[in-house]
Amino acid sequence: MTNFPLTRRLMLAGVGATATLGGCATRSSDQAGQGPFATAPLNPIVQQRADAQVFRHTDGAYYLTGSVPEYDRLIIRRSPTLAGFTTAEEAVIWRRPTTGKMGGHIWAPELHMIDGRWHMYFAAGDTGQRFRIRTYVLRCEGPDALKDSWTLLGEVQTSWDSFNLDSTTFVHGGQRYLCWAQKDPQIDTNSNLYLAPLATPIALAAPPICLTVPTLPWEMSGRLKVAEAPALLARNGRLFLVYSANATNHLYCLGMLTADAGADIMKLESWTKSPEPVFVSSEETRVWGPGHNSFTLDEQGRDVMVYHGRDYKEITGESLYDPNRHTRVQRIYYRADGAPDFGIPVGNGEVPDRFSPMDQPGSFLRLEGGRVAVGAGAVPATQFRQKPGLAGPGTVSLEPILAPGQVLRRTASGDVVVGPREDGAVFATEASFLRISGLAGRNGVSFAAVGATNLHLQHVSGTLRAAPVGNRAAATFLVT
Ligand code: AHR
Repeated sequence: MTNFPLTRRLMLAGVGATATLGGCATRSSDQAGQGPFATAPLNPIVQQRADAQVFRHTDGAYYLTGSVPEYDRLIIRRSPTLAGFTTAEEAVIWRRPTTGKMGGHIWAPELHMIDGRWHMYFAAGDTGQRFRIRTYVLRCEGPDALKDSWTLLGEVQTSWDSFNLDSTTFVHGGQRYLCWAQKDPQIDTNSNLYLAPLATPIALAAPPICLTVPTLPWEMSGRLKVAEAPALLARNGRLFLVYSANATNHLYCLGMLTADAGADIMKLESWTKSPEPVFVSSEETRVWGPGHNSFTLDEQGRDVMVYHGRDYKEITGESLYDPNRHTRVQRIYYRADGAPDFGIPVGNGEVPDRFSPMDQPGSFLRLEGGRVAVGAGAVPATQFRQKPGLAGPGTVSLEPILAPGQVLRRTASGDVVVGPREDGAVFATEASFLRISGLAGRNGVSFAAVGATNLHLQHVSGTLRAAPVGNRAAATFLVT
């Protein structure tokens, strides 16, 4: 094993993490020399864009829209990557009129491709009656949603002329449906969720069914009783209709309705409501009021959830007018029964990953006290963000999402401990690793210790250590 001086090794790391182990040269899994964290989106990915929806189009681009703090216009960003939304140019595709209908609040747009043409669903109040909120649809007259002109198709006609918002549309079983939030004048709630097939983008093909009325404690606080912002996730033979509940402050959260994909989704008995919320604020990762989500795939084809959340809990004034519901994104994982496990909001910083030892499928590196265990475990304890390494370019440091500001560090004895970042070259070296192609297979990754590349992170007797490699599979991790 050739021990290069640290600077030479880091240079190697920077150009593709070529490290040698017993003369067997391995190359980084990041062949472009981008480094492991260059492509990870940084949360929040977009400041002050609430109710964010991301649409991944067949042109390979991602499109993002959402509510702006002024509630006065419709915007779209386009990017080849999720991370790129942070700096992507933003096109204003429509502004509310200064008077009359649609001159009030403009809320929660969604971009959809219907019959080969871009359509934008959104809610609008009227001038002087900014909460007389109704749902409208714009259609783009050309293929470029950001540059071509948009025409108002009209107002979506529902069962009542009442407060309605947060429409989403999806195709299931060859039929396009609309799902939205609306006030039923006969029910003492702010909004309930409704579902109906569409005959045209703005006309229902049949009377809607009411999917849920806010009745559970986590759906109501004070005078507000809210079920809104539905988003559909179809996976593992089931439909998961995730919706937002409660006021738009730190109590805002996600609930979920589930149906078998083969059922008649227009029959209420096909749907089961989760008794508890599936995604709530987190004091540990410092994200409050997570909600109004959408679903898409990341560049590797993995399920991700887009949602908004603030990075503070206490709000001055009416939460609806606090501008800092930022757009966030994170991976979705699935339980053994195929249902999504959203975990908790992962917090600011690189989108985290989970690391599963190649010789122990189904187990993960897991934060356990001040150490890292290996085994099964709740999603949040197994999520680690790969941050730029303290030892400089081409190295990574691993930060548990449940211990923001802390990093994994190897000790002289080979133990791996988790603790607050410290100054100094020694700490930087011990808390930094070279991410290289998996020692037991290129579909995995391994981590060589900076300053001692004969040592690699590996699990030994259920605990993570930094040691010379015996079992390569124990030192190779599938990144999920
Ligand atoms: O963000 C504006 C509105 O507030 C959204 O339409 C709704 O989902 C939220 O309650």
